[in-house]
Amino acid sequence: MDPNAMSTSNTLYQAQYQQAQLDPEAFWAAQADALHWDRRWDQVLDRRNAPIYRWFDGAEFNTCYNALDRHVEAGRGDQLALIYDSPVTDTRQQYSYRELTERVARVAGLLRAQGVGKGDRVVIYLPMVPEVAIAMLACARIGAIHSVVFGGFAAPELAKRIDAAKPVLVLTASCGIEPGRIVEYKPLLDEALTLAEHKVTRVVLLQRKQCLASMQPGRDHDWQLAEAAAEPAPCARIAATDPLYVLYTSGTTGKPKGVVRDHGGHAVALLYSMKAVYDVGPGDVFWAASDCGWVVGHSYIVYGPLLAGCTTILYEGKPVGTPDAGAFWRVISQYRVKSFFTAPTAFRAIKKEDPRGELIGRYDLSSLKTLYLAGERCDPDTVLWAQQMLKVPVVDHWWQTELGWPAIANCIGLTPMTVKPGSATVPVPGFDMQVLDADGAALPAGEIGNLVIKLPLPPGTLATLWNDEAGYRDNYLSRYPGYYLTGDAGVIDEDGYCWVMSRIDDIINVAGHRLSTGAMEEILAAHPDVAECAVIGVADALKGQLPVGLVVLKSGVTRPADEITRELVERVRASIGAVAAFKQAVIVPRLPKTRSGKVLRATMRAIADGRSYTMPATIDDPRILDEIAPLLVPPPR
Ligand code: COA
Ligand code: AMP
Repeated sequence: MDPNAMSTSNTLYQAQYQQAQLDPEAFWAAQADALHWDRRWDQVLDRRNAPIYRWFDGAEFNTCYNALDRHVEAGRGDQLALIYDSPVTDTRQQYSYRELTERVARVAGLLRAQGVGKGDRVVIYLPMVPEVAIAMLACARIGAIHSVVFGGFAAPELAKRIDAAKPVLVLTASCGIEPGRIVEYKPLLDEALTLAEHKVTRVVLLQRKQCLASMQPGRDHDWQLAEAAAEPAPCARIAATDPLYVLYTSGTTGKPKGVVRDHGGHAVALLYSMKAVYDVGPGDVFWAASDCGWVVGHSYIVYGPLLAGCTTILYEGKPVGTPDAGAFWRVISQYRVKSFFTAPTAFRAIKKEDPRGELIGRYDLSSLKTLYLAGERCDPDTVLWAQQMLKVPVVDHWWQTELGWPAIANCIGLTPMTVKPGSATVPVPGFDMQVLDADGAALPAGEIGNLVIKLPLPPGTLATLWNDEAGYRDNYLSRYPGYYLTGDAGVIDEDGYCWVMSRIDDIINVAGHRLSTGAMEEILAAHPDVAECAVIGVADALKGQLPVGLVVLKSGVTRPADEITRELVERVRASIGAVAAFKQAVIVPRLPKTRSGKVLRATMRAIADGRSYTMPATIDDPRILDEIAPLLVPPPR
């Protein structure tokens, strides 16, 4: 897009956007100078293997050194690096940069003592305790590649990720704590290790006092004992283009995609974003209320804030119920948070419990300068409510696991722009967002089409998919040569504002969590009574979307429908996990299809959401829509 179209005045935002477009090498090299390089790059951008690009080729760079040791050596060792706040265990802990560096070095030593070396994968399956950040940084310190798996996934999903990443070691804890229940992680891990084909011979287990897990002699090691016995490990020399982590995210099938992030480009991009987008610097308190199992946690609980010398908050709790809808305001006021990031769902949950914002008034929120929302489309009502209640700018910004940092945002640290509720504002410097039609022609302002990003992508974005470069090309680069396909449909308006409207594939977004309906369909289809099925995401006032399964039974099945649907719900929970929030399956006589056999998911979604729809011209039998409409009632809450 043309950044000149955005405003008549020449702003800092515009200047940086143009610089990043015209000379990306010079722009990103200048940003990279703020970090410490063990060896400088030969080329800023290696274009030889286009459309696969590499940033900071030939350089050596240690992410952990830059996130921790660098600040201690600069005399800021006593500043707070990490605050752990856990209302679910009534625990608060603080780590200065010096203390965090020392613990990370010791855990890095533990990993080394367990035989973990450069390039080895380590799966981290931990709840929101300080050890999750410590483990990630410890891997980064020695050049091991971490792969964090979100705690809400069930054993078979964990097993899939273990088989894909082939770790030499797994770090876990005895349990996580969800409001009202203890989630025992160790039995889930034991089951996953049995299911996985890849054999893991070493597990390091953090025993939490809420639940003691049993240990398998020879394989399992006690975290505290092993850490106490370990020698601190120094920072290794690592190629800037080497993988820092692999993070699995949902694709359209049941096979998750392993997004690979490098060391050097990732750190450069995150540091830039902390200033340009989130408007924070050394000493500021930054809080992303997410989970380290998601990309938001990787980028903005762990790496981004620490690279920028901020104080980050690791929160083990919920927006509501731990203990009430004032939980976020308590944390913001207690630690003087300047920039706060969460998902719109969290705000909708708070708004539902405290619509007049009475709990907000009990806290001093004067430190809070900006609220950032991402992870799902933010409805304008939520933006307006948040603006009204908090009286700070509310920034809806857009990005994806693949991209690693915001691609569309209101760059508060450069030039704050007028908010248009429902729009994520403008492309961040480095991202050339465009809207193309099905044939690859650029669409004029205001017309909806496929949202793409012109290559090369800036640093910090995915280097490739783990062990699957062909998959990277097929899924993202081949549809429109020279462009990255985001998988979202959107509009760029005449002011240059981007509006992300929906996915173009079968991925759904439940409470800010990206889930594959294809993966759920695979589970439903495997049930012995099911002939065929479809899973659609229907609109939900709290979680944005909820999955609903439509199931056609095999002929001759006479078992009670509610027994079968209960089993289907249980199967999805046992296979994918509670996070799928799959609570409703409906038995239908047939699925609506086109004459060529394609299931009409979009039409069913419109019916379930109560939206008007046009009867698809290619529908095989229009009567089926009348038959299934009464069955698509909103799921029970
Ligand atoms: N370990 C184990 N189970 C987990 C889990 C974890 N780390 N995280 C969630 N779950 C479980 C929940 O207990 C719940 O189980 P249930 O079906 O037995 O109730 C299920 O997974 C769904 O969880 P969630 O999506 O969190 O829904 P909820 O109804 O418990 O809470 C909100 C609703 C709005 C409070 C919650 O979704 C929320 O905080 N959303 C913020 C979204 C967010 O941070 N997204 C990250 C991207 S920025
Ligand atoms: P994830 O990879 O889990 O971060 O999910 C990324 C997807 O979530 C995007 O492709 C969008 O579909 C959706 N998404 C994230 N942020 C936003 C936003 N601000 N507005 C609209 N959709 C969003």
